[in-house]
Amino acid sequence: MTIERYSRIIGTGSAFPERLVSNEQLVQELAGRGIETSDDWIVERTGIRQRYLAEPEVSSSMLGARAARNALEAAGIEAASIDLIIVATSTPDYVFPSTACLVQKALGITGGAAFDVQAVCSGFVYAMTAADSMIRSGVASRALVIGAEVFSRILDWNDRGTCVLFGDGAGAVVLQAADAPGILACRLHADGSQEHILRTAGNVAGGAVQGHPFLTMDGQAVFKLAVSALDAVGRETVAAAGLTLDDVDWLIPHQANVRILQATARRMGIGADRVISTVSQHANTSAASVPLALDLAVRDGRVKPGQRILMEGVGGGFTWGAVLAQM
Ligand code: UT7
Repeated sequence: MTIERYSRIIGTGSAFPERLVSNEQLVQELAGRGIETSDDWIVERTGIRQRYLAEPEVSSSMLGARAARNALEAAGIEAASIDLIIVATSTPDYVFPSTACLVQKALGITGGAAFDVQAVCSGFVYAMTAADSMIRSGVASRALVIGAEVFSRILDWNDRGTCVLFGDGAGAVVLQAADAPGILACRLHADGSQEHILRTAGNVAGGAVQGHPFLTMDGQAVFKLAVSALDAVGRETVAAAGLTLDDVDWLIPHQANVRILQATARRMGIGADRVISTVSQHANTSAASVPLALDLAVRDGRVKPGQRILMEGVGGGFTWGAVLAQM
């Protein structure tokens, strides 16, 4: 008889830079640059009230390593037992080596696999799917899956349509091999023909930035695609596990805009009381948003052992995906 192998979340953790910036503070800072915005506009259009912004010396690997340590502590395990680190980030410390290798170094461990995943705001669900597959196939036994971002570095602070939307931070989970799920189903998608609606279309070559080094976005196009993608992939993932949306205890979508969360939940027939929303506190932290929301809800006692959580990502690429997990 073959014993099925699964993966299971055994700990979660978060990290933020020290600087907490309220809408009012940001409005003042932007006014100093001649950029006009308001707390009312930001709250009404996005639900965001504050964000953490990294000091120049703080990097994705530093935030990722801190989140990882918190997740290891929550799981009650030593870093030395980790044999896989995947970091989802679009704001890596370097061109190379990967942010995952820098996190491994910061944790003082060697030998296991470490690599980055680049799927922008869907990065965490892409990384979870990769880690789950690697654990189930026997390539790894205990993984750190991290979403870590310093999106403030790629924002054009003269573009009020984007600079008020994002924040910095990192969230992490420890995923461990188990003989019962755990991760019930994962589904991933991409549509590269939509790459132009959300991108940072620059790179480093010949010692200089080539192209455009700041994030640009067609907000309304992203909004429409995001809602339909989150609805469709959520349904697909739950069905793949032989379940229905009524079997989901908590929906944890990518935290980009409270209106996207509300529209998605409405389409899925999931009440607001079953949706974890952190966008007001953290703003959009890209690949970090889902693990940060998960950690918050685990630590405040909303997400309980045995419950089913549907985590969903959507973002640049265009990419989207979902992971259904039993805690
Ligand atoms: O993580 C990746 C996924 N990203 C997303 O999911 C973002 C998706 N998109 C959105 O969340 C929304 O489209 C935004 C929040 C980005 C924008 O909201 P919107 O309701 O689509 O506004 P809009 O872009 O249509 O802009 C409406 C007005 C414009 O003025 P006019 O042309 O109507 O006079 C903008 O210039 O709001 C103006 N505006 C602002 N006003 C004050 C844009 N940004 C600002 C601002 N403060 N910060």
